[in-house]
Amino acid sequence: MSVIIDGNKIAQDIRRSVREETLVFKEKTGIVPGLAVVLVGEDPASQVYVGRKAKACAEVGFLSREYKLPADTSEEELLRLINDLNHDQFIHGILVQLPLPRQIATDKIIAAIDPHKDVDGFNPYNVGGLVTGSPLFVPCTPRGIMELIARTGITLSGKDAVVVGRSNIVGKPIALLLLAQNATVTICHSKTKDLPAVTSRADVLIAAVGKARMITADMVKEGAVVIDVGVNRLDNGKLAGDVAFDEVAAKAGYITPVPGGVGPMTIAMLMKNTLDAAKMTR
Ligand code: GUN
Repeated sequence: MSVIIDGNKIAQDIRRSVREETLVFKEKTGIVPGLAVVLVGEDPASQVYVGRKAKACAEVGFLSREYKLPADTSEEELLRLINDLNHDQFIHGILVQLPLPRQIATDKIIAAIDPHKDVDGFNPYNVGGLVTGSPLFVPCTPRGIMELIARTGITLSGKDAVVVGRSNIVGKPIALLLLAQNATVTICHSKTKDLPAVTSRADVLIAAVGKARMITADMVKEGAVVIDVGVNRLDNGKLAGDVAFDEVAAKAGYITPVPGGVGPMTIAMLMKNTLDAAKMTR
């Protein structure tokens, strides 16, 4: 039976330490870290995430501003807002909630965010920095996953790490972070031949696909660290990860649950990135 990694508890620890660090920082500099969250349209899931971000900001002592724009907002209007926020001295971090409506080119918007305020780490400057090993910001979910792995106490150097999924938000950046820790990294995707043969070699397995319970026990090595990034809504309304939790938990060494694993870490790391952004203004 594996150890269940408690993401709620670890995220709470991180938010507490950010709150304490923020107090000291405010005292010393008079600067209140500020985060702007931009939401275009009325996607219900995005509204929930944006609400959680504002709540976390209040908890750690940040200024937070929400910009809720209608679904028919033009690219030009959004670019104008980004430009204003880039020059706003009270705002240190800018997060544009994805996905954006189709009339807006996501790449163009992300590229317009000042890299020093890009707390999502999605701007090409920071993506390039991640490739070469010196980004200003690391994307929040991958940064959270690395923290969860670190807290198991295992060392990644020389380990086989397999990432299932190749998104820009999770799959690609987590692969680069694992590589930076000297893991031997394989990225799998929908065209991978014999996925179970690859995943079965993983000492560390990251599932970031978006398909409920697709990682089954036969695909997992005995004692592996299994990190489940999936958030899938089942027909019965319940949430399920990409990992078939019960059967894999019986075989893995460590496993993250859904909910309560990776999810809460994303916002905790957003708080950390925003504090880092505020520190860069000095
Ligand atoms: N939508 C889903 N995940 C994310 C994220 O990490 N950042 C942003 N901005 N939008 C998202």
